[in-house]
Amino acid sequence: MSPYAHITGWGMCVPQRVVTNEDLSKQVDTSDEWIRERTGIRERHIAGAEESTATLATEAALNALRVANLSPDEVDLIVVSTSSPEHIFPATACLVQDRIGATKAGAFDLLAACSGFIYALNMASQAIRSGSVKNVLVIGSDTLSRLTDWEDRNTCVLFGDGAGAFVLQAGEELGGVVSAVMRSDGSGGDSLSVPAGGSRLPASAETVLNRQHYIHMNGREVYRFATRVMVQATKEAVGKADLTLDDIQLVIPHQANQRILEAALRGLDIPPERCISNVERYGNTSTASIPIAACEAIQQGRLQSGDWIVFVGFGAGLTWGAAVVKWTGPFLPHREIYPASYRAWIKLRSSLLRWLRRVEGWIWGRKFPEI
Ligand code: UT7
Repeated sequence: MSPYAHITGWGMCVPQRVVTNEDLSKQVDTSDEWIRERTGIRERHIAGAEESTATLATEAALNALRVANLSPDEVDLIVVSTSSPEHIFPATACLVQDRIGATKAGAFDLLAACSGFIYALNMASQAIRSGSVKNVLVIGSDTLSRLTDWEDRNTCVLFGDGAGAFVLQAGEELGGVVSAVMRSDGSGGDSLSVPAGGSRLPASAETVLNRQHYIHMNGREVYRFATRVMVQATKEAVGKADLTLDDIQLVIPHQANQRILEAALRGLDIPPERCISNVERYGNTSTASIPIAACEAIQQGRLQSGDWIVFVGFGAGLTWGAAVVKWTGPFLPHREIYPASYRAWIKLRSSLLRWLRRVEGWIWGRKFPEI
């Protein structure tokens, strides 16, 4: 029988700096009242100069590994879901691999915008269920503040930065990710996009002048789409798991807007007590919002062993999806495997590898070594 993909570790990381609605109202023509009424957001965390998608992802990953009691060299695969990677390439997942010292892991990025964490969770779970890997780190990390036009009040009030991570491990008993649906509709791509900076419109003075490297959004269109697909995807994933909505103890949705969330709950006839909402304190952290909300739900003791939960999200693409998870546990006691000395060793290891590569270059010059 194929193994199940259990969630055995979880961690999150948000930037230090908090930007309130009041702060934003000094920058653009908006108000705390408007933002709270239309979105439910009060404040968000915004990355500082030393923080980035990879630094947040790395911290979230280390926290998740600590909870799972798993050493980085036991990780087989790292999937980073992000729409704000550090570079076009190398993949942010490779930077994380190096920074946590996951010496035996494959690593790649996945881009499905705010639905990305559900896609990544499902892909990682399928890899475990096929028997090809045992331990996977799934990370959702975004710093959309770096793609935000801070002069555009339609978008700059919505987003925040952050990262969340899960460790998935193979296990025989029924549990973990039990069903998932992933959907897309590229005809709605222009509803939410960053038009320039890719191969279609490479960076030029003109694209910068036209502010095409920033997020462009048709808010109302995305709003209508979101309320529709959140309900559809939840019902589909729950049906696929041979369950009904009454079996679900907790819904952990993508945190984009409190109104979207409430509309989805009404459509599903699920009371607010059975749903996690923290959009007020983080804004829309894109692909990180579901794992961050899950971490907080666990901290608050809202997840018990044996509970059935649903993750559901939507985003640019357009993409959407949902996953049904049987929460298992209790888990092994946490262990402190990342004291300062461990971090120092990982840094040293990375520097040594770089240095070795340079020495190799000096030795071989323009020739290739014989293998
Ligand atoms: O992960 C997916 C990411 N995207 C989303 O989730 C976005 C989904 N959409 C939404 O959440 C909502 O559509 C928004 C919060 C973006 C906007 O709320 P809305 O109730 O749909 O407002 P609206 O776009 O219909 O705009 C209403 C008015 C407009 O003024 P006029 O044309 O009526 O004079 C806007 O210009 O509000 C104005 N407005 C603002 N006013 C103050 C737009 N943004 C702001 C603002 N402060 N920040």
